[in-house]
Amino acid sequence: MTSQTLREARKYEETFEKKIGTEDRPGFHLSTRVGWMNDPNGFSYYQGKYHLFYQYHPYDPYWGPMHWGHAVSEDLLHWEYLPAALAPDQDYDRDGCFSGSAVTLPDGKQLLMYTGVKRIPVSDGEFRDEQTQCLAIGDGIDYVKYEHNPILDREDIPEGCSKADFRDPKMWQEEDGTYRCVVANRAADGSGQILLYTSLDGLDWKFKSVLSANHNRFGVMWECPDFFQLDKKAVLLCSPMDMLPEGFEYHNGNGTLCLIGSFDEVSGTFNMETNQAIDYGIDFYATQTILTPDGRRVMIAWMQNWDTSRLHPKETRWFGQMTLPRELSVKEGRLIQKPIRELEALRSNKVEYRDIEFTDAMQLEGIKGRRVEMEIELAPSDGENLYKKFAVRFAQREGFHTAISFRPYESILKVDRKFSGSRRAAIHQRRCKVRDENGKIRLRLILDRFSAEVFVNDGEQVMTITMYTEQAADGISFFADGSVKMNVVKYDLVG
Ligand code: FRU
Repeated sequence: MTSQTLREARKYEETFEKKIGTEDRPGFHLSTRVGWMNDPNGFSYYQGKYHLFYQYHPYDPYWGPMHWGHAVSEDLLHWEYLPAALAPDQDYDRDGCFSGSAVTLPDGKQLLMYTGVKRIPVSDGEFRDEQTQCLAIGDGIDYVKYEHNPILDREDIPEGCSKADFRDPKMWQEEDGTYRCVVANRAADGSGQILLYTSLDGLDWKFKSVLSANHNRFGVMWECPDFFQLDKKAVLLCSPMDMLPEGFEYHNGNGTLCLIGSFDEVSGTFNMETNQAIDYGIDFYATQTILTPDGRRVMIAWMQNWDTSRLHPKETRWFGQMTLPRELSVKEGRLIQKPIRELEALRSNKVEYRDIEFTDAMQLEGIKGRRVEMEIELAPSDGENLYKKFAVRFAQREGFHTAISFRPYESILKVDRKFSGSRRAAIHQRRCKVRDENGKIRLRLILDRFSAEVFVNDGEQVMTITMYTEQAADGISFFADGSVKMNVVKYDLVG
């Protein structure tokens, strides 16, 4: 039985999505059907299609009581919206259905686990949140909330830990058919920790261990955890709140964190060997991964960040998009990310230049557009004498541009959207330390109308930003201070 709250949301999205033209959305990144979107949820492969749910407030372009939006795809690039899957319609989730995940049950049904939020009045108009884990079972379109919800509550949290911050369950099935899930929580000292739970049937869950604790390093609360084995390593991804900067690795505010190490099955604990940011740009948060039927570990994230996500005008019809799904691997203790290979099917109108030498600003015939992939290889012209700076500008038109620049003396890559048309005093630039060999570097840039994702040196690092510059700004130009030699291949991404 669909509740009145869910029926209203479904009716609203169907009516109001019609006001958004396809040209006004990204081409191959999933954006919210209408209103507001944050975290990806329930990223799964079910009945022959990829399913992606998301944190959703259909009624206006800002965060509000959380629903789950829903879309399906065959290639992770072309998405079809389905009716909203969950609404805050029960006593235990009356203030929101927060982030969660999906698995398939042995009987072929799809199981969703999400965080139910209930705001309980205490004294003097103050509230305290109670967060619990809840289940819903469905057929890929309609989901029924489980009669025994919540299935994990304050009783299942270790003594002394937060009952108010207990959210974002990410579950998966083990090879022996049993299920596990990780949930974000706060330890008694207020710092973030990840709890591990196990289940034989996906319905009845038991606390196993504190998988990893933050001890006040890497921010405060760790949101949206994900945990998996990859290339013989254990990988823990999460999104810490309130970070302090560390060199060029971590920036202030909400960030992302990848910990690589090993997992001790007996104690259920993770031992970290290396740590790094997942993305070094501005708009990236709340990752979630899937194991695809052909064995790839693919990650997607919300292509926004909390600190810059409340600055858009209220007339905005949609706000929130997902990143391009990225194929992950681990090499020498680092996370490597590549755009999913399905993207290559969208390529057309190839334009290629080799060994272009330049010392100033220039444009290249045939290189422009806002849905574009561009691979750039740079080196000093004579192979030795370092240039001072290289830049590529895009989304460019009189007065507007967004840029990536590289300074080989410092090995610093910078994204800058100061001239993208923003009228707010938000963060518009970010720097990242990259690995270059004497001025040689490879950049793969993917533009999709409202975003730019820059993959550095075959995915060693990625910088992601959104930009809401008018679409008529479609120029691309190059700039060198010093003498640069460049190979560039550009494709339009269409279809
Ligand atoms: C992360 C987050 C999650 C929570 C959701 C609420 O962006 O804060 O921890 O489940 O968003 O929308």
